[in-house]
Amino acid sequence: MNVRALLTERLETALAKALGESTPAVVQPAARPEFGDYQANGIMAAAKRTRQNPRALAERVIALAELDDLTDPPEIAGPGFINLRLSADFLTRALATPELLAAVPAPQRVVVDYSSPNLAKEMHVGHLRSTIIGDAIARVLEALGHTVIRQNHVGDWGTQFGMLLAHLEDTGASSDGLADLESFYRDAKARFDADPAFAERSRETVVRLQSGEVAARRAWQRFIDISLSHCQAVYDRLGVLLTPADVRAESAYNEALPHVVADLTAKGLAVPSEGAICVFLDEFVGKEGEPLPVIVQKSDGGYLYATTDLAAVQFRSESLAASRVLYLTDARQALHFRQIFAVARRAGLADSTVALEHLPFGAMLGKDGRPFRTRAGTVVKLIELLNEAESRALALVAEKNPELDPAAQAVIARAVGIGAVKYADLSKNRTSDYVFDWEQMLSFEGNTAPYLQYAFTRIQSIFRRAGVPSGPRPLQVAPEAHEEHALAVQLARYQEVVEQVAADGFPHLLCAYLYELATLFMRFYEACPILQAEPTDRERRLALAARTGATLQHGLDLLGIETVERM
Ligand code: ARG
Repeated sequence: MNVRALLTERLETALAKALGESTPAVVQPAARPEFGDYQANGIMAAAKRTRQNPRALAERVIALAELDDLTDPPEIAGPGFINLRLSADFLTRALATPELLAAVPAPQRVVVDYSSPNLAKEMHVGHLRSTIIGDAIARVLEALGHTVIRQNHVGDWGTQFGMLLAHLEDTGASSDGLADLESFYRDAKARFDADPAFAERSRETVVRLQSGEVAARRAWQRFIDISLSHCQAVYDRLGVLLTPADVRAESAYNEALPHVVADLTAKGLAVPSEGAICVFLDEFVGKEGEPLPVIVQKSDGGYLYATTDLAAVQFRSESLAASRVLYLTDARQALHFRQIFAVARRAGLADSTVALEHLPFGAMLGKDGRPFRTRAGTVVKLIELLNEAESRALALVAEKNPELDPAAQAVIARAVGIGAVKYADLSKNRTSDYVFDWEQMLSFEGNTAPYLQYAFTRIQSIFRRAGVPSGPRPLQVAPEAHEEHALAVQLARYQEVVEQVAADGFPHLLCAYLYELATLFMRFYEACPILQAEPTDRERRLALAARTGATLQHGLDLLGIETVERM
């Protein structure tokens, strides 16, 4: 159950009774333990607006709110904050059920557009953030009962493919020759830049491809298949849930593009401009006040990234019947998406009820604060980054567990290495740039994957030593010690945090929650002996420990991170 929503609802009902109008109660987790577990901060603003004494209003609200089944008697602090402490009785009920998470009452159909690399090149670190963050958000939405439609909007069309196919024809590259797509691309590009005849042939090849010539199409398809299989290998390795069935490439929209342009033209939105066809909207102007058009067709008749995205909005709204569409790309595409969403709305390509949301993220930087690159200054291939993560983790695991056999070490190293890379990204607010730092992400201390995975294994070992299974264990008696209460409250907050991530698309909130949970558990474990305690205390503490372990595992799974039994 969403505790914060429950408290909010009770307080807002009371506020409405007291003031005759709906008023936000602004319920938040308490800033400090002295303030209880939650605080309601909305009373002062409401009192000011309605010219009342805030403490008197707070008292009336408390009297009207019927909080008895949820909290101890609330306290009024300062000029009119309401401090709320969850009652032992409520916590016992909240933690008596084995389910950690309940489905939301009104599930939606949500399209999540993520990963979406360009197939001309091999996946590199620039694709990591979209892939990892998008996958976590998709998992969170699914866990809450939403229908998630993953869309891997891969770039498989455009002039670059002419160059690649011309090079393919010349080299007759076997699948082996395409094993290293990155150098294949580099060689093709070098020829394109140096050799005008090759460049000309590349352009002809694009025309052959676009006019549907069989040989060109076949070569293109082979190239795309190989490139996609490279992507799938990365997804599998990362434990990302994307499958080939989630691919809906740019080329899938080719037939719709002329219709999009015709439609925009018929509605008077698209107009000829310097030979191209553009949509001008008043709200998009540059620094000097110059209009920023959305070009939907070039003067040579070709279509653009934007045209394809307009077709995709329509498809997602109409054919996929989405109520919400999320786009995960870096922040540099922010203007592109604002324009696409505005044009789509104006043209009625998206149903007026569909939410279109761009969830941007910053760049991945090296420790020197510059874009993350290899020592030689080239882009880092994803697969190589993941190899390095696992080998670094293996060294740590072997050092900590020399007694484990190599196969067991490898399993742990995979969970830790891949988990560390994913968690380092997910735990930062995605809107800022983030520094990729091996030592930090693989540390067993602080807000890292290894710390949380280790906390999980410690809980598992408590159960091994107790000789009881670590499965669900309903809390039957109320928490007593202060550390038990704090841990129980954190456990009860899981639903509200997951719902928050689903609403705003910020997985770092879930990371911060899990880190806090592990920290509160360690504090509890130091203060409250489990195995040596009296039977009632022992049972209650085992129940709290079991719930903590299950929540850590569930939360890490929502982030796409594996847990292991020991490490
Ligand atoms: N292929 C694009 C890129 O690599 C990202 C596509 C994102 N999705 C979209 N519908 N535009 O930048």
